[in-house]
Amino acid sequence: MQFRPLGRTGESIPVIGQGTWGMGGEMGPDPSKDKASVEAIRLGLELGMNFIDTAEMYGGGHSEEVVAEAIEGRREEVFVASKVSPRHFAHDDVLRSARMSLKRLNRKQMDLYQLHWPNSKIPIAETMRAMERLVEDGLVRFIGVSNFSVEQMREAQESLSREKIVSNQIEYSLVDRSPEAGVLQYCQKEGITVIAYSPLGQGKIPRGRGGPFKVLDEIAGTLGRSRNQIALAWVLQHDDVVAIPKAADKQHVHENATVSDWKVPGEDYKKLNQAFS
Ligand SMILES: NC(=O)c1ccc[n+]([C@@H]2O[C@H](COP(=O)([O-])OP(=O)(O)OC[C@H]3O[C@@H](n4cnc5c(N)ncnc54)[C@H](OP(=O)(O)O)[C@@H]3O)[C@@H](O)[C@H]2O)c1
Repeated sequence: MQFRPLGRTGESIPVIGQGTWGMGGEMGPDPSKDKASVEAIRLGLELGMNFIDTAEMYGGGHSEEVVAEAIEGRREEVFVASKVSPRHFAHDDVLRSARMSLKRLNRKQMDLYQLHWPNSKIPIAETMRAMERLVEDGLVRFIGVSNFSVEQMREAQESLSREKIVSNQIEYSLVDRSPEAGVLQYCQKEGITVIAYSPLGQGKIPRGRGGPFKVLDEIAGTLGRSRNQIALAWVLQHDDVVAIPKAADKQHVHENATVSDWKVPGEDYKKLNQAFS
């Protein structure tokens, strides 16, 4: 597994992490697939994907409990990121949410705590004051954001008195290249890691038909790789980007973990850029 720096923290994280949306339920808890989810995450850890992304919102908090079970016994080796929901951005709510996430995760500290989406109704300075307090109290190591525009990242950074925003988690894949309109470049310039979510287009890449997908299939055929491996490698070919595919199927976990060791050759990379422009 390759590693990339996390912002300018001096810490490095695996270029491929594990997303957990849907593990433990969606909008509410659903324990029916917990065993398979725990096994998939553990397999991912064995294959070096020691970076797990979850959120208080996933499965109404149960996703964090699934993560806790999966990492039991190897907690120190795993970089765990969670997110606070926008409706909890008031100062004391942020502190409460973090404590509850830590309880569900069965940890004393989260490696990365992210603001899940912007919330224009609560001043960002109030939210960031709470985030800095969490770092000061040792409950959180690093502060990140998610789904923030350039302007929102600027405001968020200006509201922090000591800490730096180390990451912005945004949708980025062959089928959603909107970060290239400015957010990607801003993050690269400012030393903010881009955590690419839905790097497989939430399943659109494995299922897509026609047009650009024909080009993807041709390249995949020539290189002897799957569509998904090509799509993940393409995302990772951008500086300062790491990706968090979600895979509950063990074959998918295997496929995704092996991508970090190779690149899409230059000509094919250009063809993909054209096909999915
Ligand atoms: N910050 C945010 O607002 C936000 C929003 C969305 C997502 N996220 C995070 O990003 C993570 C990933 O995004 P996502 O779950 O939306 O979408 P994704 O990772 O792009 O796609 C997940 C889908 O692709 C399938 N898949 C995974 N690897 C595959 C492979 N090698 N071959 C074929 N199919 C494969 C999965 O199936 P199986 O599960 O059956 O293996 C699942 O159906 C989430 O889990 C979450 O942690 C964050």
